[in-house]
Amino acid sequence: MPAVQGCVFDAYGTLFDVHSVIAACREVAPDAPALSETWRAKQLEYTWLRALMGHYEDFWVITEAALRYALRRHGLRLAPAQQQRLLEAYYRLDTYPEVPAALQQLRQRYPLAILSNGSPAMLQAVIAHNRLQEIFTQVLSADAVRTYKPHPAVYELAPRHLSIPKTALLFVSSNAFDAIGAKAFGFQVAWINRSGAPLDELGFVPDFEIQRLDELPARLASSP
Ligand code: 2OP
Repeated sequence: MPAVQGCVFDAYGTLFDVHSVIAACREVAPDAPALSETWRAKQLEYTWLRALMGHYEDFWVITEAALRYALRRHGLRLAPAQQQRLLEAYYRLDTYPEVPAALQQLRQRYPLAILSNGSPAMLQAVIAHNRLQEIFTQVLSADAVRTYKPHPAVYELAPRHLSIPKTALLFVSSNAFDAIGAKAFGFQVAWINRSGAPLDELGFVPDFEIQRLDELPARLASSP
């Protein structure tokens, strides 16, 4: 395997905790974690379905539609302003606690990029909220190719924009479908398996598995 020349990160669920929205959900839902789970599950499902149908809408539109579904599923009727407040929690997601320091360490050694389904405005907002603007040399959005991961056209954005061959890029994701999609595309892949879940049975296996991002610098230091 060639030496790693750059690291590419998934955003939601990998760097930014999508369940940060639970705090906002508590204001309107008796079971805020369940609402957040449904919201995230539907958000991902809608990306896959829209990609397959060939009917792209950007990730903000999808996130809003998934929220509408989740609210109905949980029997909640909100005023438009309340719904908007929940949606805007996406601009202010927190990073997982270990993420900022781990990124600071990694950027001493590699160019770092984000490659996400998120729309450019969503990504810029959450990056600015967490003061990570200096960390990434590129912030790449699936919006550029109007489809979603795990479509290879999305992954292709990284080698093209970083001018580094895909086999020399380490793609890092906590989302199993994304880690598998990235491996199928041809990246080196680290899967951050925060919950100790079994890997999906799709025939592609990430190169290695860690539980938290701060394990990555040491892991890479021990490779050539
Ligand atoms: C992302 O692309 C899959 O939500 C994930 O950021």
